[in-house]
Amino acid sequence: MRVRQATRTDIDAIIAVDREAARDENRRRHIREWVSGASAFVAMVDDAVAGYAVLEYTFFSQGFISMLIVAETSRRKGVGTALVSHLEAICKTGKLFTSTNESNEPMKALMQRMSYERSGIVHNLDDGDPELFFFKKLEANR
Ligand SMILES: CC(C)(COP(=O)(O)OP(=O)(O)OC[C@H]1O[C@@H](n2cnc3c(N)ncnc32)[C@H](O)[C@@H]1OP(=O)(O)O)[C@@H](O)C(=O)NCCC(=O)NCCS
Repeated sequence: MRVRQATRTDIDAIIAVDREAARDENRRRHIREWVSGASAFVAMVDDAVAGYAVLEYTFFSQGFISMLIVAETSRRKGVGTALVSHLEAICKTGKLFTSTNESNEPMKALMQRMSYERSGIVHNLDDGDPELFFFKKLEANR
C-alpha cells in the first residue's frame, strides 16, 4: 500500500469510495477543491484508490484531518491507519486534530488505536449525535 497526494486523475476514484459524493454535488465540489489545493491524499492498493483523506490548516491554524474515508471493501486492512500515519508524517504543525460523530465506533476505535487524545465535544452540529474532537501531539521540532 502506498499513500500519495491525490491528483486530478484520482477524482473519479475518490468519488467512487465516498458514497456521500455520489449523491451530493457539494461534496464533489469539495473533493475537486481539496485535490486542486493539494490537501487530498489517496491510499493506493493494487493501483486502485482504497481510501482518501484530507489535511487542512483552517482549524485555528492547526493541522486538521477534515475527511477520512476507506472504501467499504477495503476496511480493517490498515488503510485508515496508513492514511492517518502519512498525514502525521507530513503535517506542518506540531498538533494534529480531527473529529467524528459520537456514534462512529470505527473511527473512535481507530483514534484510540493510534493514541489520539479526546479534545472536546461540540453539540448541535448533527442533532442528537455530538461531534467528538481528537488530538495528537506530533514531534516538537515542527
Ligand atoms: C473509520 C475508518 C476510516 C477506518 O478505516 P480502516 O481502514 O477500516 O481502519 P484500519 O484497518 O486502519 O483499522 C485500524 C484499527 O482501528 C480499529 N477499528 C477500525 N475499524 C473498526 C471497527 N469497525 N470496529 C472496531 N475497531 C475498528 C481497530 O483497532 C483496527 O485494528 P484491527 O483491524 O487490527 O483490529 C473506516 O471505517 C471508514 O472509512 N468509515 C467511514 C467513514 C468515516 O467514518 N470516517 C471517519 C471520520 S468522519
